[in-house]
Amino acid sequence: MRLLLRGGRIIDPSQQLDDQMDLLIEGRTIADLGKGLTRAGDESDLTILELEGKLVVPGLIDMHTHLREPGFEYKETVRTGSLAAAAGGFTSIACMPNTDPVNDTRSVTEFILRKARQCGVVNVYPVAAVSKSSEGAVITEFADLRDAGAVAFSDDGKSVMNSGLMRRALEYADALGMPVISHCEDMDLAAGGAANEGVVATRLGLRGIPNIAEDLMVGRDIAIAEYTGTAVHIAHVSTVGAVALIREAKRRGVRVTAEAAPHHFTLTDEALQDYDTRAKVSPPLRTMGDVSAVREGLKDGTLDAVASDHAPHSTLEKDVEFDYAANGMIGLETSLALSLRLVEEGVLTLDQLVAKMSTNPAKILRIPKGTLRLGADADVTVMDLDEEWTVDVTRFQSRSKNTPFIGWRLRGKAFLTIVGGEIKYRAR
Ligand code: DOR
Repeated sequence: MRLLLRGGRIIDPSQQLDDQMDLLIEGRTIADLGKGLTRAGDESDLTILELEGKLVVPGLIDMHTHLREPGFEYKETVRTGSLAAAAGGFTSIACMPNTDPVNDTRSVTEFILRKARQCGVVNVYPVAAVSKSSEGAVITEFADLRDAGAVAFSDDGKSVMNSGLMRRALEYADALGMPVISHCEDMDLAAGGAANEGVVATRLGLRGIPNIAEDLMVGRDIAIAEYTGTAVHIAHVSTVGAVALIREAKRRGVRVTAEAAPHHFTLTDEALQDYDTRAKVSPPLRTMGDVSAVREGLKDGTLDAVASDHAPHSTLEKDVEFDYAANGMIGLETSLALSLRLVEEGVLTLDQLVAKMSTNPAKILRIPKGTLRLGADADVTVMDLDEEWTVDVTRFQSRSKNTPFIGWRLRGKAFLTIVGGEIKYRAR
């Protein structure tokens, strides 16, 4: 089976490529890349796709997704999450361990991988827990989890409050050549909070989560990484202080990488008006000053990746009083279009955005993806940058519908999602 993607604009940051070219896929791999590709001989197995006017990039990678299986299948399964990923233009996703049971053992990691293989939509990379049940007390079996197929460690959803355990986690993970993804929020400072500490929370009568809850933990993780010479990846950065700390640390040569979620560079805590629980996330939506800092961090390279933090919840967890509502919003099917706004607004170039949504996540997770080099896996995302669409959750693949972006008019959409040489999503 061969696929010829003809005449699209190919952007591949891994090869500093931005040109109108053809791409040939043979079986599961990239076989050729160039202008005016023609193939001699038998063409009976060749499918030609005319892609003039479309953008062709290395398959997008969402390095921060919640799939909810095992345990919360009514919110999302490996299959529905994978279909949502493909529809959003993602060819690979890394899924967080806060399932039930938590992915803290080989059997859960293997279960997720088996499910992903069975549904065969996108590449699924399990992230295993740092601590047993993500309770922050006892470290998990890192080598065993690595052998089972985990690509990173995280207690996402919670901070690892025990600094001694975090130090050991960074050292063990580094010895195995794997990243630790840190959810930074001092749990004591954030305790009881439901929204960003500030004017909006005060007006709404909600308990606040201060910026320093995040800043403190980002500072601590950087200090541990610097002292031990290890690497740390900071998840969903949301504060002006965290961006500054990461920027400074990078300048000093600390091995720190970081990601931002579309909601944190698009919305402020004003979205909580009318107590809209769909906008309740962790870390919380913050102020315009924070949003600007996150955008600046993306622009100057302080923040390496864009990650959706796709967090499906049902009406059971969301149609309740604000204080009791679960944190999180779905993101796999809106992440690309919301991120393309950064290009439209001059924050990022297209090349930089593709790097943050493909090449860089691949490097951080150390997975052999994020490139269209010859011989690489044929994971390719084709986008239509001109397509205007309205967010309508009834058309989403995700099993959950919790997003505050309902009704938003967005521009840019996945046109084709190709995983291992097979078309897994095609826009209709
Ligand atoms: O808003 C969030 N939801 N933030 C997290 O860190 C966890 C996630 C979830 O699992 O729902």
